[in-house]
Amino acid sequence: MSYIYSRQDRRVSDEIVMEAAGINKAFPGVKALTDVDISIRKGEVVALLGENGAGKSTLIKILSGVYQPDSGTMKLEGREVHFDVPLQAKEAGIGVIHQELNYVASVSVAENIFMGNIPTRHGIVDYKTMYEESRKIMAKVGLELDPKICIGTCSVAQKQLIEIAKVISNDIKVLIMDEPTSSLNDIETKNLFQFIHKAASEGISIFYISHKLDELFEVADRVVVIRDGCVTAQIDMKEATRQLLISRMVGRDLTAMYPKEGAPIGETILEVQDLSTDWLKGISFHARRGEIFGIYGLMGSGHQEIGSALFGKDIIHHGKILVNGKPAKIKRPMDAIRAGIAYVPAERKTEGLVLNQSVAVNTVAAYYSKTHPLFVNRKRDSQIAKKWIESLSTKTPSENTIVESLSGGNQQKVVLSKWLELKPDVLILNEPTRGIDVGAKAEIYKILDRLVNEGKCVIIITSEMPELLAMSDRIMVMFEGQVSGFLDGKDATQESVVQYAIGG
Ligand SMILES: Nc1ncnc2c1ncn2[C@@H]1O[C@H](COP(=O)(O)OP(=O)(O)OP(=O)(O)O)[C@@H](O)[C@H]1O
Ligand SMILES: [Mg+2]
Repeated sequence: MSYIYSRQDRRVSDEIVMEAAGINKAFPGVKALTDVDISIRKGEVVALLGENGAGKSTLIKILSGVYQPDSGTMKLEGREVHFDVPLQAKEAGIGVIHQELNYVASVSVAENIFMGNIPTRHGIVDYKTMYEESRKIMAKVGLELDPKICIGTCSVAQKQLIEIAKVISNDIKVLIMDEPTSSLNDIETKNLFQFIHKAASEGISIFYISHKLDELFEVADRVVVIRDGCVTAQIDMKEATRQLLISRMVGRDLTAMYPKEGAPIGETILEVQDLSTDWLKGISFHARRGEIFGIYGLMGSGHQEIGSALFGKDIIHHGKILVNGKPAKIKRPMDAIRAGIAYVPAERKTEGLVLNQSVAVNTVAAYYSKTHPLFVNRKRDSQIAKKWIESLSTKTPSENTIVESLSGGNQQKVVLSKWLELKPDVLILNEPTRGIDVGAKAEIYKILDRLVNEGKCVIIITSEMPELLAMSDRIMVMFEGQVSGFLDGKDATQESVVQYAIGG
């Protein structure tokens, strides 16, 4: 076997493991893929890059038997293959981590890992082996968890890592990862990258989808750019620059990623005093008009739970919340909305959207529940939806399209529209740009900047360090359910933030 180039001590063979040629796929009203050719070599990491709705997930769903192409052929190790169902692809050695996680919330971590494949001895479930193997498999992705606990109690990041562990517990030749780091923080991401390097050097071929460009420089050997369902460029990672990738992907240069101008800081809008919930211990902070207030923490630090507590989703055991100087009794989300607080959750699919309703209905949902208008005004609703479709460049056939049929990133944009339309005094966003392409990301930052210039206060809970540092006027860092430090946005560095995040 000959090697044609090396990357990070990793050598990629020239043996093609999987290839697809002339792939076409249409959905009602949408041509998702047009004449796509793609191949991957043994031990190669190929990144798929493209805007929201470009066709990345559709392509990998075809490669893994979830969808069947309208036309085109696929070959695995030189032999033509047809996958009528995902199980056939799995048995052929193709493992997939989908953009949407799938797990059974009510059973244990170990049972999720071994779902459909539970080890037995003489017909009896072999729990000992199952737990031991689960531990070993999880260790491969840097996860230390009791395999007996119920997966429903795990964080999104843990669930994502468990999903990866589950897939690699089978023998695989090709591993496909659709935005695997979207809910992982820096440390978890590093662990995952180590795993990817190891898997690739052991000869596993990996398709990798991510909107985080920096990651591609760390993991990918080659980038395939998809625009509007067509492959528009193939770039060797050694020759790639950020600028080049962006221009190939969006078809234009992006001048400012973080177009933050800043706003005059006014009086305090939100004051939180000694707030305690099941996850939070005595949290106190305030956020002011014109301010973007960033909250950071590692997995399990409680930073994610601040949003749900302030939005009335968790039981508050102790403490006070004041909005515009007035005490707010927040027991349910409606109390928070009335007090002028809106919250965009991180797990949008379950918490933020009604999937079988249209883009327009979802966009105006919060607006209706806040204002309780006497009449439904479909025309105005459509206009509002159209305005946001345009401003976030949401890719949808129309405002009447059912949200379920949109791509992951475009669903996220619909959730954001819903809360941005509400124009709350305090807007809390949990992972505001998760799953969003770079062009739309810059657009969202512009909107946040505009909001603070209108005298609102924006709180971003984010695990994306560049976003945190570039957008925040002040930063609060959490550790083990408590505040471990405050930083001025101007002085904060990655090191100083991480220092607090690991306990000071
Ligand atoms: N089941 C479906 N029914 C109808 N349309 C669909 C379906 N799945 C995808 N589409 C459409 O196909 C196009 C490509 O979607 P896809 O999910 O592949 O995008 P993507 O590149 O993965 O985007 P993202 O970065 O947002 O995840 C989009 O216009 C989407 O609305
Ligand atoms: Mg996708």
